[in-house]
Amino acid sequence: MGRFDEVAAPNPLRDPRDRRLPRVPDPCALVVFGVTGDLARKKLIPAVYDLGNRGLLPPGFVLLGFARRDWGDGDFEQLARKAAEQHARTEFREDVWRRIADSVKFVPGSFDDDNAFDQLYQTLVDLEDSHGIAGNAAFYLSIPPAAFPLVLKQLARTRMADSDERAGWRRVVVEKPFGHDLPSSKELNSLVDSVFTAHDVFRIDHYLGKETVQNLLALRFANTLFEPVWNSNFVDSVQITMAEDVGIEGRAGFYDAAGAARDVLQNHLLQLLALTAMEEPVSFDADSLRAEKHKILNAISLPSDLGAHTVRGQYQQGWLGGQRVKGYLAEEGVPEGSTTETYAAVRLGIETRRWAGVPFYLRTGKRLPRRVTEIAVVFKRAPHLPFTKTDTVELGNNQLVVRVQPDEGITLRFGSKAPGSAMEIREVSMDFLYGTAFTESSPEAYERLLLDVLLGDKTLFPDHVEVEASWSVIDPLEQFWQGTTPEPYRSGEWGPQGADAMLAHDGRTWRRP
Ligand code: BG6
Repeated sequence: MGRFDEVAAPNPLRDPRDRRLPRVPDPCALVVFGVTGDLARKKLIPAVYDLGNRGLLPPGFVLLGFARRDWGDGDFEQLARKAAEQHARTEFREDVWRRIADSVKFVPGSFDDDNAFDQLYQTLVDLEDSHGIAGNAAFYLSIPPAAFPLVLKQLARTRMADSDERAGWRRVVVEKPFGHDLPSSKELNSLVDSVFTAHDVFRIDHYLGKETVQNLLALRFANTLFEPVWNSNFVDSVQITMAEDVGIEGRAGFYDAAGAARDVLQNHLLQLLALTAMEEPVSFDADSLRAEKHKILNAISLPSDLGAHTVRGQYQQGWLGGQRVKGYLAEEGVPEGSTTETYAAVRLGIETRRWAGVPFYLRTGKRLPRRVTEIAVVFKRAPHLPFTKTDTVELGNNQLVVRVQPDEGITLRFGSKAPGSAMEIREVSMDFLYGTAFTESSPEAYERLLLDVLLGDKTLFPDHVEVEASWSVIDPLEQFWQGTTPEPYRSGEWGPQGADAMLAHDGRTWRRP
C-alpha cells in the first residue's frame, strides 16, 4: 500500500515488564466499518471517548468512519459526539471531546465500491502527514457477517491489509458470532486468514473484556485458598447463568437466524466455562492462556440424553418491571411461527481428571426477571454432619458465586450458627464488592478490548481453535433441536419449566440469582 511507510516512533510509556503502568498504543487509525450501527454508537465510539478521557489514546490517533452515507467529517463528528455524550462510561468533557473531534474523519461509500476503498486508502496515506498515524491501522468490521467477504476483498485489493514492520501494522477486528456453525466458521476463518496474517486477527468476545471475568484468573491463580477445592473431590456442580431482562431490542434480523445458543452459549458462556475449568497457564501471555482453554473446550462432553439435558424456550408476553411486554413472536421483524429459541440451557461435562463427573449447567435467556451474569461453584455437602438433622435444615451446599454483572463481586455462602442458646445452622454470605473494595471504577469491556487491539495484545481474544471447538459443542445441539418447537415461558419468569425439570432430574435446583 503506497506509503504508510514511516517507522512507528518508539513509545516511551510502554514497558511490557510492568503491567501496572498504563499502556498507550502507537499512533494509529481505528477504521470502523458500519459506523452508524448500534454497536458503533453504543459501544465502540463511547469506548474511544473513554480511552481519550483516561489519556490512553496516542497522540496521532484518528477515528475513521466508513459507511454508506452522503456525509463529510463534520456529520460523522456530530454522530460520534452524540454517541459519546449518551453512552460513554466517564463524564463527558468538552475539552476532551475537542481533542478527539479534530481526529474524527469519514469516508463515504458502499462495500462494493472500488473508488470508495481507493479513497479510504488515500485518506490513510494523507493522515500520515496530517495526523502522524505512522502507517498503523486497525479495521473494525462492525458489519453483518455476510458483508465480511466484500470488505476483506477490498482491503486485500488495496493492500491496506498488509502489515509490515517498517511501514506499520494492520489489524482486523471481527465481532462474534464467528460463523453460524463449524463449517461456516472454518470458511470465515480461512477467508480472514487469506487477507490478514493470523497474528493480526482479533476476534472479539466482549465477555473476556469484563473486569470480573478477568478476575476469575486472579481468584483462581493468585490465591492458595480456592485451588485445592477446585475439583471433583469437592465440587458438586457448576452453574453458569447469563440472564437478561431485555428482549431482542429490534435485532430480529440477526437474532431470529441465530437464537440464544448461537448468540450467547457458543461464545460468552463457553468462554466463562473455559476460564472456570482450565488448568493454571504457564504464564499469562496469549498463547499460554489459549493453550489451557483449548484443552477444556476440547474436553467438553454433551449429555448422552440430549432430550433430558437440554432445554430451549421462547418468551411469551408478560410483565417485567411493572410493564407489559410483548411475546417474541409479536416482536417487529420476527417471522410468523418462528421457532427460534430465546432461552437455552444445557448440561455439559468435562472429561478431565479434575472435572470428570461434575456437571456444568449453562443457561441463558431473554426477558428473564433481571439482568444478571454469574458463575456459581456449588460444593458438595460435608460427608458427615455432627449435628442433629433439625440443626441443619436451613443449611444448603456451600457456594462460591462470581458475580460477573451487575453488583460485580464474589459471594461465599456457608453455614453459620444462628445466635441464641439453640443450635441452628443457617446459610450466610460473605461478600466482596468491587464498588466498595476499590475506588477506581471498572472500564467497559469494549474500552479494554479496543485498547488491547491498538496495543496488539491478544491475551483476551479467542483464537480460531477456541471458536471451532465451541461450535463442535453447539452444532449437535442445534441438530438435535432442528424441527422442534421451543417451550414457551412467560416474560418475567425464570425460563421454561423444562429448565427446572432438567435440574430436578439430577436432584438439583437452579440458584435464584
Ligand atoms: C451480545 C448478544 O453478545 O451480548 C446480545 O449478542 C446480548 O444478545 C449481549 O444482549 C449482552 O451483553 P452484556 O454485556 O450486556 O451482558
